[in-house]
Amino acid sequence: MSIQVGIITVSDRASAGEYEDHGGPAVREASLAEGWEVLAEAVVPDDEERIQTAIRSFSAQGCSLILTTGGTGIAERDVTPEAIRGIMRVEIPGYGELMRMKSLEITPNAILSRCLGAIVDHSLVIALPGKPSGAVECLGFVRGAIPHSVKLARKEPTSC
Ligand code: MTE
Repeated sequence: MSIQVGIITVSDRASAGEYEDHGGPAVREASLAEGWEVLAEAVVPDDEERIQTAIRSFSAQGCSLILTTGGTGIAERDVTPEAIRGIMRVEIPGYGELMRMKSLEITPNAILSRCLGAIVDHSLVIALPGKPSGAVECLGFVRGAIPHSVKLARKEPTSC
């Protein structure tokens, strides 16, 4: 199934050019390895409105899967979950549950991630942690559910 992906790195420092973004490229590589098409990429600061604008714009451009990386933790500037919840139609709790459960087998620090999955407009949005290896690991844990979720987000007919 062809899936058009938008990737958003959420980081004050990367968006200010203070350090190179490694999360976006890691998620891009993992998406290409799945055979998905990366349509759009952006680096935005940890700002709710900027995150929401990027998600909505990528959705309008035809990205049926939007992957964010960063801002899922508990620092004061970590607002990615709040940004997504502010515009979503529905959350899919299984995404966050599975990513945390499987990640806890790798590191106890995974308990700090408020990673999640949700439907915004006609897109599946998955918020991954900021650490590049963690983002790729989490994507790997939920990849099996993505094609069916994307079909439902696009309102395409499905067999179940
Ligand atoms: N999940 C996996 N699979 N691997 C990781 O290394 N790092 C954790 C967690 N989730 C990690 C992970 C850490 S250290 C933090 S602080 C949280 O994700 C939140 O990261 P974020 O604020 O960059 O999104």
